[in-house]
Amino acid sequence: MILDLADLGLDEGATVLVKRALAASPVITVRGTAPTLALDLAAWCRAQGHGCAGLVVTRGPFDRLGGAERAGGLDEVVAHPPAWWGLAARGALVEAGAPALDLPLAGKREVWADEAARLYAQAAAAQWDPATAIPWDAPIAHGAEVEDAIVQVMTYLIENETAALLVPARFLGKLHPHFREVMQLLAIQAADEARHIEVFTRRARLRRTELGLSTAGGQASLASLFDEPDFAIASFLLAVLGEGSFLALLHFLRDRAPDACTREVARLAAQDEARHVAFGLAHLARHVTEEPALRGRLAAAIERRHAALAHTAGLNAEVFDALVLLAAGALTPAALRRGHAAVLDLVREMDAGRRGRLARLGFDQATAATLSALHTRNFM
Ligand SMILES: [Fe+2]
Ligand SMILES: [Fe+2]
Repeated sequence: MILDLADLGLDEGATVLVKRALAASPVITVRGTAPTLALDLAAWCRAQGHGCAGLVVTRGPFDRLGGAERAGGLDEVVAHPPAWWGLAARGALVEAGAPALDLPLAGKREVWADEAARLYAQAAAAQWDPATAIPWDAPIAHGAEVEDAIVQVMTYLIENETAALLVPARFLGKLHPHFREVMQLLAIQAADEARHIEVFTRRARLRRTELGLSTAGGQASLASLFDEPDFAIASFLLAVLGEGSFLALLHFLRDRAPDACTREVARLAAQDEARHVAFGLAHLARHVTEEPALRGRLAAAIERRHAALAHTAGLNAEVFDALVLLAAGALTPAALRRGHAAVLDLVREMDAGRRGRLARLGFDQATAATLSALHTRNFM
């Protein structure tokens, strides 16, 4: 093969053409009028390990890409990407000798869902700006005791949202980037939770300078999620059962809060939560199909968590009472009876939702009912 460089020197970019020519042909004859072409070509060939006689270049036996490997395909997700593919883009040609990174969450069976790309695109399109999406100046006409109840509920929501941010974020740091869509989805999910923390904090501060109570029992419940090292179990407890239950709670606030601002923060957070639940369900449904024994491990995890939390009070009385008062809208007996009934409806609705999601993971009705009843009384 003949490669004509015209007057382009090797120090002016001609190496690009020489490399391309050598990739296509094992022997090339170079032509050109650059003054130091022969000298430069000999030096470059020595450095690259190619043979060089005059202006005839022979591709060297030392081939940098000899041990290189294709990191799956652009749309081909492999079951067990090796650690040395590391941060390489899926589908890239990875040169041998790249460092192996510590990426223990690297099994397709554990993490993958075909829905991840669609859910990520949906999430990216549905991002909302807290500054403009919420009617922060909407009138607040309810009494001081109802406002206190809202602040208590917000205080509770914030710590739950914090767990919902940190638990997936910790797994994100261990996830093999080969599963790009899952990585992107977990990242945008963390951004969703960051926004939820922001808007619930802003709502709590509208009329108050102090937040409500954070209970030891509530934190114990969340700590049991925080400490869970297994991705499937953590997703199951957090996304399917916890965020699933929270969906009902956020819908309750959206429908029953006395002011437009609280209703809107709850409505927008619920929209995001629905995606978080959908991903948890999607990857676990796929996982249990490939590994039916996982169901037993998930059931055991609920039982274990229930036993570990048996000594705690579960949902704190402050949050329960605050939800009653929020739904009542006033401290009169008739209003409180209505509010109390509404909260009991909420608890039943949460249970029905959990049973439905457990059924989607292949649990029979009786098992689903038993497991749902064992779910933490703290909701998340
Ligand atoms: Fe959230
Ligand atoms: Fe969430």
